[in-house]
Amino acid sequence: MSKILPFITLLVLLNPNLFNARETIETPISPTPLPYQGYPPPLDPKLVELREVILHFKSTITCDPKGVTETWCPEKSPCEYKGFYCGHPPKENHTYTVASIDFNGFGLCAPTVSGFLDKFVDLALFHVNSNNFSGTVPDVSKLRYLYELDVSNNDLSGEFPMNVFQIRDPVFVDLRYNNFCGKVPRRVFTLPLDVLFINNNAFDQRLPKNLGASPVAYLTLANNRFTGSLPTSIKKVSSTLKEVLFLNNNLTGCLPYEIGYLKKATVFDIGGNSITGQIPSSFGCLKSIQQLNLAGNLIYGEVPSEVCSLGGLRNLSLSDNYLTGIGSECESLVGTILNIDDNCIDGYPNQKSSEECDAFLSRPKHCPTIDFVPCKSCSYGKPEVPAAPPPALSPTYSALHRRLL
Ligand SMILES: *[C@@H]1O[C@H](CO)[C@@H](O)[C@H](O)[C@H]1NC(C)=O
Ligand SMILES: *[C@@H]1O[C@H](CO)[C@@H](O)[C@H](O)[C@H]1NC(C)=O
Ligand SMILES: *[C@@H]1O[C@H](CO)[C@@H](O)[C@H](O)[C@H]1NC(C)=O
Ligand SMILES: *[C@@H]1O[C@H](CO)[C@@H](O)[C@H](O)[C@H]1NC(C)=O
Repeated sequence: MSKILPFITLLVLLNPNLFNARETIETPISPTPLPYQGYPPPLDPKLVELREVILHFKSTITCDPKGVTETWCPEKSPCEYKGFYCGHPPKENHTYTVASIDFNGFGLCAPTVSGFLDKFVDLALFHVNSNNFSGTVPDVSKLRYLYELDVSNNDLSGEFPMNVFQIRDPVFVDLRYNNFCGKVPRRVFTLPLDVLFINNNAFDQRLPKNLGASPVAYLTLANNRFTGSLPTSIKKVSSTLKEVLFLNNNLTGCLPYEIGYLKKATVFDIGGNSITGQIPSSFGCLKSIQQLNLAGNLIYGEVPSEVCSLGGLRNLSLSDNYLTGIGSECESLVGTILNIDDNCIDGYPNQKSSEECDAFLSRPKHCPTIDFVPCKSCSYGKPEVPAAPPPALSPTYSALHRRLL
């Protein structure tokens, strides 16, 4: 239980409705002890079957640094095994079976979880952060109650495991730090997911044009091989999107002014790509923004004063671009929350050489300058009252670490 607590805490932060979702699943986390009926207590036939599955899986495990599988012995009930939690499936009061698997941080090595995960048809949660499981995610479409799948920080490969979405839409999918490759199916971006963490894989595709179709709140695509430009459809997620990381991909194209519609976004990060254009004035409408990272791109022009006036801003990272000036409101932020190193700004230290600046700046520029400002009628351009202290935890930046969230 203590191992899953931080996770649950995060989920509660992310999604206050999660426990409503859980109600239908009869609290799989707390292992309700079987009523004592003499020794040995009779095992549910499902548990007898699953014990075989577990013992077979145990025989394939090649490393177990914490010795957890020592508790997986043939004479015990799987409900007593470390990492397994039992409960009653919905509407089946007389069945008592494995409802949750939590191997977070166990460091187990196994060549595959096929023939294991897929056998737990009543499973609601599968959490295996920081193990060493290889192979692909098996077909889990028969796992009718599965709603959380966390396989982060393993050695899994293959395509995006789309069959996860076949029965019901899971609330939480965390695939970060694996070797998944190929394309993320377009449909994923239309699903009602709150959280999609797929950073640090080898997904290789153009950003889908329908990126804004999902009401996602936390999205990390960082450290993959996404290409193409930021879709203008991103403005459609303006009512839900809180944090998005496009960090370290191969994105190109101009900065769309539609980003200015993301009035709920606290984190927007496109660092380490090849995005170009000027910072649109519409960025002054990012009213909730705390961390804005545009560093390591091909952005030029002047930083609009309006962006520097945003009241909640804590970190505006613009280093390693081709900016040539900063608005007056920005000057006092340089060196504290604003980093403008490695640009082409006269009078500031640590800038690019004039040769490098001239070479870039003399090339023809094709990005339009769009002055449209989506929040003109409100407080655009006016310094806002400093925001309340931001929460210490940014779920998406936490997802850039391998460990459990
Ligand atoms: C299961 O148990 C609950 C309470 O323990 C009861 O309300 C419900 O009617 C039972 N359902 C079945 C199918 O036995
Ligand atoms: C995990 O597996 C990889 C390759 O299968 C191996 O190189 C690595 O040492 C393993 N890690 C641990 C902690 O056993
Ligand atoms: C993609 O980006 C990575 C680093 O983010 C870089 O090493 C690689 O050369 C880029 N590939 C292409 C095709 O631009
Ligand atoms: C600001 O953001 C940049 C880019 O994400 C990061 O590298 C840097 O460490 C951050 N600075 C602070 C003080 O948090």
